[in-house]
Amino acid sequence: MSTIPKVELHLHIEGAAPPAFIRGLAQEKGVNLDGVFNEDGSYKFESFNQFLSVYEAACTVLTGPEEFARLTTAVLEQSIAQGVIYTEAFLSPDFCGGGDVGAWREYMNAMQEAAAKLPEIEMRGIVTCIRHFGPDQAKVAAKCAAETAGGFITGFGMGGDEMVGTQGDYAYSFDMAREAGLRLTTHAGEWGGADSVWQAVRDLKVERVGHGVQAIDDLALVDHLAEHGIVLEVCPGSNVALGVYPDWRSHPIEKLRERGVPVTVSTDDPPFFHTTLSAEYDRLADTFGWDDEVVREVNVTAAKSAFCDTVTREKLLKTLEPTT
Ligand code: ADE
Ligand code: ZN
Repeated sequence: MSTIPKVELHLHIEGAAPPAFIRGLAQEKGVNLDGVFNEDGSYKFESFNQFLSVYEAACTVLTGPEEFARLTTAVLEQSIAQGVIYTEAFLSPDFCGGGDVGAWREYMNAMQEAAAKLPEIEMRGIVTCIRHFGPDQAKVAAKCAAETAGGFITGFGMGGDEMVGTQGDYAYSFDMAREAGLRLTTHAGEWGGADSVWQAVRDLKVERVGHGVQAIDDLALVDHLAEHGIVLEVCPGSNVALGVYPDWRSHPIEKLRERGVPVTVSTDDPPFFHTTLSAEYDRLADTFGWDDEVVREVNVTAAKSAFCDTVTREKLLKTLEPTT
């Protein structure tokens, strides 16, 4: 599947860091990362909360703009190898200067410059607050987003522990981002059930939802998503690795697609979940019989719902046109 051009909408830049990259930086800086890796070198976690802790521990070696520039290059090179032509990455001011706008601008510039050196792929950034850091810290991230909106930064989103508070607790930040012209997505319905997706749509007025898969438990919601064209950024390998669903067969992506919900496919934090975007499509082909035309259609949906300018979108859609 790696020869089919792909559009990825849901990728956390830190979560895409190869473990060897993080280990290399830890060695350079003399940082102790005990507990972060298994003996075979992979990231070590057995639950979602452990995953979040290991993720944040790994981030401690990403200490400046230079580290994020190197990370961006490493991540985009991985994506290019998967045939990805456009990627939207979640970028967190909390891990990039702690929320100071001036510092954030330097980190952002470093990532943008690194991305510009790779003509094979287009990248845009979605500034992302971390839910379990709380609504006040989210406002700090939203301010960074608003101050740097336009061009490279095209969206605002929220990741982190969905079981903390409600989506509506973060409405102030999402309103600030919307007023700055940013487009909106939030993680919902990964852990918090269908109600969390309703909250995201109603209280944050997002046009895309990160994961959103638990919408399948409320068919009125499924119909609402389909009717309003609210796009799901589905990451099946992530859901199976973290135990949202026990196996690929049980994953609802195909049911959602059959009921008319616009679904897209992404990897979330690929090295954590031992996946790549091509591997995701291979598993979807094996499990649900997705052929090349379905893969193409899903990537067209992603291109149409990408948070990018019209010229870029038209270019993506042209590349995705069938060759026959
Ligand atoms: N941050 C990185 N990966 C995440 C996920 N799957 N859910 C919530 N926050 C995240
Ligand atoms: Zn995610």
